[in-house]
Amino acid sequence: MEKRKDFASKMGMVLATAGSAVGLGNIWRFPVEAGNNGGAAFIIIYLLCVLTLGIPLIVAEFVVGRAAHTNTAQAYKRLTRNTFWQQTGRLGIITGWLIMGYYVVVSGWTLAYFLKALATPPTIAAHIAKQPGYWSDFFNELTSDALLPVLCVIAFALMSHFIIVRGVEKGIERFSKVMMPMLFILLIVLCICSFFTPGAKEGLTFLFRPDFSQVTFGTLLSALGQAFFSLSIGMGCLCTYASYFSRDTDLLGTALKVAGIDSLVAIMAGIIIFPAVFSVGIRPDAGASLVFIALPSVFQEAFGAFPWLAYAVSIMFYFLLLLATLTSLVSLHEVPTAFLAEDFHMKRRTATTIVTLSVIVIGTLCSLSMGPLADWKLFGKSIFDCLDWVSANVLLVVGGGLITFFVGWKMESKTLRDELTNYGNYPYHTRKWIIVLLRWFVPFVIFLIFLSGIGVL
Ligand code: PHE
Repeated sequence: MEKRKDFASKMGMVLATAGSAVGLGNIWRFPVEAGNNGGAAFIIIYLLCVLTLGIPLIVAEFVVGRAAHTNTAQAYKRLTRNTFWQQTGRLGIITGWLIMGYYVVVSGWTLAYFLKALATPPTIAAHIAKQPGYWSDFFNELTSDALLPVLCVIAFALMSHFIIVRGVEKGIERFSKVMMPMLFILLIVLCICSFFTPGAKEGLTFLFRPDFSQVTFGTLLSALGQAFFSLSIGMGCLCTYASYFSRDTDLLGTALKVAGIDSLVAIMAGIIIFPAVFSVGIRPDAGASLVFIALPSVFQEAFGAFPWLAYAVSIMFYFLLLLATLTSLVSLHEVPTAFLAEDFHMKRRTATTIVTLSVIVIGTLCSLSMGPLADWKLFGKSIFDCLDWVSANVLLVVGGGLITFFVGWKMESKTLRDELTNYGNYPYHTRKWIIVLLRWFVPFVIFLIFLSGIGVL
């Protein structure tokens, strides 16, 4: 087996972990959830969820990963003899594999939209913007096509493959150190552009003036589910990354940084999207199609007087989405790769290739399930919808529940304490609140999410 390499720098480690968190969840899902749940009120509740639930869970995964210093399946084996808890890591690997299967499909769409934005010169784009229904037809044709989305899936899986195969330091870390700053620059440029759109005032008011009359129990559950997905919690991704952290990494500090960056990016995505959406009179609760159907024409109309600016902004937006998606896919890819390489003593190249091929197979099936294979149903849903539903509503939540229970109640308390305080380098009393939340608050809330996820609540 090849020697295990850790992240080489603190900066690279934080950027890679933030890269896992920042993805479709922030730029595609968050504005949709905020739009559906009344804007600012949702954001406040979301941030509270990140603080009370997200941060303790991130720390819990970090503790397991760094204490065990191995992939997520082995990690629980190293920390407990109890065979029940050992399954937690395996469940995470299966969940990651399934999420990758549909994530790579949506990633593929971002690639298709990026190429389309690049290939549509301003004059044609202006013409297209005048045709109502153009983008919904484009989206429906793209997603139900047999060939193009599958090619995009393969292209995306290969991009992730070539990063992962180079290893943790030379692949994931180096790539994140270039891509994440690029992503921040694009975000800032797009936010600035957004302030100059005609709907800026209305969009920002929607985003920042809370209207609590819209808040229901459902809002709370949406915010919790969003926090889970967006922070990459519940499937061993953070645990695997933490196994490459050095002994002097402050786990709580890193969790705060990652959650802070992730929340900031989500809010910035809102600042980019809502002013543009209000500029052209689309309702902010246009739903999951916001980014792929409403937005392409929104940029055209919002910057109608400056066609080249509209052209540049749409290219930048889809490139941003592509970068964010790729850094998340890479983190998903690493989980089963590390497992195969370490548990089956494979070369990293062989393990990566097996994972890439399997992702291409699942991704292709998911993609075709929206077109030629639409009749193939699992529990009454298409393969794509089924994987999305089972992983986000059931597996991630069950995984999160097991992790919090294990760290809060089952793990050796000395190990937990050592990891939290870096062997006494930080005072225990400043970190004890994490354990209190992990024991009492987080399991209770996760149980509620689970009941709602399976439709009982
Ligand atoms: N957090 C990622 C996003 O926001 C998705 C993800 C989930 C990545 C689970 C890794 C693990 O898009």
